[in-house]
Amino acid sequence: MTATRFLYVSVIAIAIAMTLASWLPARADGEVNVYSYRQPFLVQPLFDTFEKQTGTKVNVIFASKGLIERMIEEGESSPANVLLTVDIGRLNQAATAGIAQAVDSEVLKSNIPASYRDAENRWFALTTRARVVYASKERVSQDSITYEELADPKWKGRICVRSGQHAYNLGLFASMIANNGEEQTLKWLEGLKANLARTPGGGDRAQVESVYSGECDIALANTYYMGAMQTNEKEPEQKKWAEAVSILFPNKDTRGTHVNVSGMVMGKHAPNRDNALELMEFLSGDEAQRIYAGLNFEYPVKPGVPWSDRVRSWGEFKADDISLNEVARFIPLASQMVDQVGFND
Ligand SMILES: [Fe+2]
Repeated sequence: MTATRFLYVSVIAIAIAMTLASWLPARADGEVNVYSYRQPFLVQPLFDTFEKQTGTKVNVIFASKGLIERMIEEGESSPANVLLTVDIGRLNQAATAGIAQAVDSEVLKSNIPASYRDAENRWFALTTRARVVYASKERVSQDSITYEELADPKWKGRICVRSGQHAYNLGLFASMIANNGEEQTLKWLEGLKANLARTPGGGDRAQVESVYSGECDIALANTYYMGAMQTNEKEPEQKKWAEAVSILFPNKDTRGTHVNVSGMVMGKHAPNRDNALELMEFLSGDEAQRIYAGLNFEYPVKPGVPWSDRVRSWGEFKADDISLNEVARFIPLASQMVDQVGFND
């Protein structure tokens, strides 16, 4: 980007930020401002319930990109009390970019297991999703699998996966480094690359479509996409993709399946800390957990909250209990390795 263009983009970003800052009440009693990377259909029902129960009004800005950057630009005048996002990589980025503040709450600590919240209390998970193998019902007969095994030459030309640099894959690869070490993971990544049916690309669902069409036999994807395909009335052909595969939860007999999260942080300069905390504690509670996880076919982060029937139909599984704090440390290295092995080439 040229200097002029960068300046231009920055000026626009600041202008947008200032407009938003003036649009959202900076400090209003009985209100709480949320920046959400998560889509309206997922979070609005939660906010409606929260408003009904507490009388506190939730103002939301939705965007699929740029909210963290916006909070950095806004600095001390940021109206954001709470930021909602997905992925340990992005939660950790929010924490390390200095836009989050530590929250010391007994409610959050007791509702959210330590593996799924920041050791320094800056981010907290709300839902979990497993990164699993979608296997062709027709062409794959084994009913269990390990991540390690994906590098075995028996899968040569049979695996489909999205970009190695996508946050979902970086989370998985970072968990491999955390569990198996750097050297072994590099070898594994080379082996996985050698087994790919085609250049990585497309979203998670596109990989499952490729299993359906016969281009590959197994794909890596997050669990909730199974629900999204099974219930897709807008693009009903996706039901056929889902019908063609079964979910295998990798490493079920060893350390368990890699899980990632969606979560939240409290804005560093939250103008209304009490209301922000009230909302965060509500989101970690039983009712919100059931609603939130149910809407996107995810797993509640709070132990003991029932899974939806559809999610339960995919089977029980053991989650790798390594702390996401540990996984987050290795994401930059995982990203480096992806380039090193030419994973996306
Ligand atoms: Fe996703």
